[in-house]
Amino acid sequence: MNPRHFLTLTDCTAEELHALIRRGIELKRMRRDGLVHEPLKGRVLAMIFEKASTRTRVSFEAGMVQLGGHAMFLSPRDTQLGRGETIEDTARVISSMVDAVMIRTFGHEALTRFAEYSRVPVINGLSDEFHPCQLLADMQTYWEHRDDIRGRTVVWVGDGNNMCRSYVNAARLLDFQLRVCCPPGYAPGPQWLADPRIELIPEPSEALRGAHLVVTDVWASLGQEREREQHPRDLAPYRITDGLMELADPQALFMHCLPAHRGEEVEAEVIDGAQSVVWDEAENRLHAQKALLEFLLLNDDRQ
Ligand code: CP
Ligand code: NVA
Repeated sequence: MNPRHFLTLTDCTAEELHALIRRGIELKRMRRDGLVHEPLKGRVLAMIFEKASTRTRVSFEAGMVQLGGHAMFLSPRDTQLGRGETIEDTARVISSMVDAVMIRTFGHEALTRFAEYSRVPVINGLSDEFHPCQLLADMQTYWEHRDDIRGRTVVWVGDGNNMCRSYVNAARLLDFQLRVCCPPGYAPGPQWLADPRIELIPEPSEALRGAHLVVTDVWASLGQEREREQHPRDLAPYRITDGLMELADPQALFMHCLPAHRGEEVEAEVIDGAQSVVWDEAENRLHAQKALLEFLLLNDDRQ
């Protein structure tokens, strides 16, 4: 039987996504209550990181240990992947020894190819195209601070990157309105905007008006560093300031997947201010991914 993978949010149904969010909230409460919950005893997660990471590595590794299992960090530098062993051969070998594989890589195609040859679930820990694990945490955070995001208005501000495309997937699955606020040349392609829930509004003062959630991200994603010189010029009007936040709904939340650059994509007053929930958002990577690991590895009826 083909294993379930989590390469984009669309690998889940809306119902499964709702169940994952609820389970993440429950697992967080269980941990706060000091309950030991080790359903993954003896299970191993291999983590392949082709790009740097703080949150993704720590949350998956801590999450596996808390669930009673083990996580193994693999870098292409120290494995045969870095010396040209094919993805197909690597997938066959690694997946014969572990119970799941998390991969952070560049092109999304490497993930789909790995998944095709893997006999265990493969999780996207970030690709150039998508960052679905971050969306699990973001959605859990909105639920915790407010409620169901259905029908709410979310505004994505800045670069139309992997996070932006993941928000498009989330809007479709969880049925919220998404305003994509990117400068010309930075918005995702037209196929990402072809949905009545998605609207391209390039002018920040228009896009933020009345929004319930304001989200931004770095101006240069991992692997795009060489383009950094041009980005600040184009993206400067998209910096989230107190003045812009005042246009949003008074109850609006601010999110950023981190790492952040204060004074670039967001002013310190905003990210360190009262509407910002970035620390819960980061912590929720742990709880949300524990829910995901249970879902993929236990594959039981509870979901
Ligand atoms: N948000 C996020 O994925 O952070 P890391 O790059 O530190 O893993
Ligand atoms: N868009 C960013 C997210 C980092 C977590 C990147 O890909 O680098």
